[in-house]
Amino acid sequence: MTRKSVSDIQGRTDRRLDALLTLLAENSTIVISGATIAKEIGVTRQQVWRWIEKLRTLGVRVKGHLHTGYHIERTPDILVPQTLSHGLYGTPFSRRIHHFFKVDSTNNIAMRLAEQGEPHGTVVLAEEQTGGRGRAGRSWISEKSAGIYCTLLLRPTIPPAHAPLLTLVAGLAARDAAAEELDCAPDIRWPNDLLVDGRKFAGILTEMHAEPDRIHYAVVGIGINVNQSKMPAELAEIATSLKIETNKTHSRFELLIRLLRHFDRYYNQFLAEGAAPIVRRFAEVSSYFRGKHVRITTATESFTGTTAGLEPSGVLRVARDDKHSTELILSGDVAEADGCC
Ligand code: BTN
Repeated sequence: MTRKSVSDIQGRTDRRLDALLTLLAENSTIVISGATIAKEIGVTRQQVWRWIEKLRTLGVRVKGHLHTGYHIERTPDILVPQTLSHGLYGTPFSRRIHHFFKVDSTNNIAMRLAEQGEPHGTVVLAEEQTGGRGRAGRSWISEKSAGIYCTLLLRPTIPPAHAPLLTLVAGLAARDAAAEELDCAPDIRWPNDLLVDGRKFAGILTEMHAEPDRIHYAVVGIGINVNQSKMPAELAEIATSLKIETNKTHSRFELLIRLLRHFDRYYNQFLAEGAAPIVRRFAEVSSYFRGKHVRITTATESFTGTTAGLEPSGVLRVARDDKHSTELILSGDVAEADGCC
């Protein structure tokens, strides 16, 4: 069987489309000639209009001026790799950014890329996911260009047992990035649901390929509800978006850059100093860290108890109501429980 090369991944945003969008967006106040566009994006002058048409079909409003050229009517909030790459300069995430208008799941793409040998720091972004995946087999609704759907490919040199800390790192990064957009501080429900006023607006799905003593790769998928105006009726009581909370439209582009810069900072801190600063930070910002009465649902049982901090590996400790013992929760759903123990 022949392996698909990275450039064969279907639906990946064409480099020329990326270059065209970047060129128009970075010169949004001027009209750019067809000849300049042709030269900058590497097509013939005759082909320029076809690429402009492609952009238009993706919802980008480009105005054509007879004899002079083109200009973008409103800078779109599309997560184009070239411009993102400038904003991420100095981090491992600036080098390999794969953008898609539509994919099934950015985690699926990132895993395929990982199998093909893509390096640590590769970023996969989508404007829309048709099969966005959440934890515990749930789906992640991914409305077109409303949220951030991003997966990071990591090749960490840590024992697989410490992998839950990658999820905490991502949760902290997403929390800090989103905090700057909100009037009140977001909460983190272990391991990584971001909540505002008890409703979830972001989640993280970490998947990895590992041997008992070595991680080949981990993909960390981050979904943030940013500019959704309303949530589907069945989720409205438990889910929200930054826009619903603030009545404002937020720049996904800026939020994403902050998210990846915070991730880089926490990740480096984790590699240099170990789990302690990550667990300490989690304790500062999560009301679920200690003393919260919760219901835990795992694959095998459901019980109530009170949270009692984290193990150094990132695993949650819960003092059970029904036994005089502390349970270590490796994975499972955590929900605030009614009443006291
Ligand atoms: C959860 O809270 O259940 C995790 C949600 C993770 C969603 C993100 S969106 C980007 C990446 N691709 C996916 O299919 N899932 C993650």
